[in-house]
Formats: sequence, structure tokens, C-alpha cells
Amino acid sequence: MDISIRITDRVGVTHDISAPTDMAMNLMEVVRAYELAPEGTIGVCGGMAMCASCQCYVLSNHELPTMQDDEEAMLAEAFFVKDNSRLGCQIQMTTDMEGLEVELAPAD
Ligand code: FES
Repeated sequence: MDISIRITDRVGVTHDISAPTDMAMNLMEVVRAYELAPEGTIGVCGGMAMCASCQCYVLSNHELPTMQDDEEAMLAEAFFVKDNSRLGCQIQMTTDMEGLEVELAPAD
């Protein structure tokens, strides 16, 4: 099935989009699929939690997957990090993410 999520891009435009939950996609891949950030500015490491180009701020109160050590380490050295920062590539599109609202962090 599809879920609805709201993504504010880096120029402040908000997009209401639907994302499939049956394709093992993560949030970074959804942003790329909808071309909400220029090619080469997001998903640089391919979703390995090694680049922080997919950093986003989570605006809704969703129960997100617990941060793994690699995500935590990456965010510890990334720029523009806030309390609600997460790496988009570490957030899988599941039905639990219905209604998720995020804002893309600025590119480095
Ligand atoms: Fe590189 Fe998410 S795509 S950390």
C-alpha cells in the first residue's frame, strides 16, 4: 500500500506525496524518486549512513526506528544538526510512517 508523507524541500516548498511501503524504500530514496533535491546532493553514499546528505528534520511525532551507531556517529559530525535530525536513508517506508512530516536539512 501507499502512505502519505509531507516533505519540505531545501527551498521551503512543501510536497504532499505518496510512498509505497512494499518496495523496501527509505525516505532518501523517496526524495530522489520525486526529485525533491538536485541529483548529487542527496543519497551520495547510497544509503550507507556515511554521508549525511540525506539529513532531515522530523517535524511530526512519529515513533521512528531507533538510531543505530553508524547513524548516530554520522550525525555527530554533520553540519546543521538539530535535536530532530535523522538520516533519511535510515527511515524505511512502512505503514507506521503514514503522515510523516519532514524537512530536508540544507546541503553542506
Ligand atoms: Fe548517505 Fe543517508 S544517503 S547517509
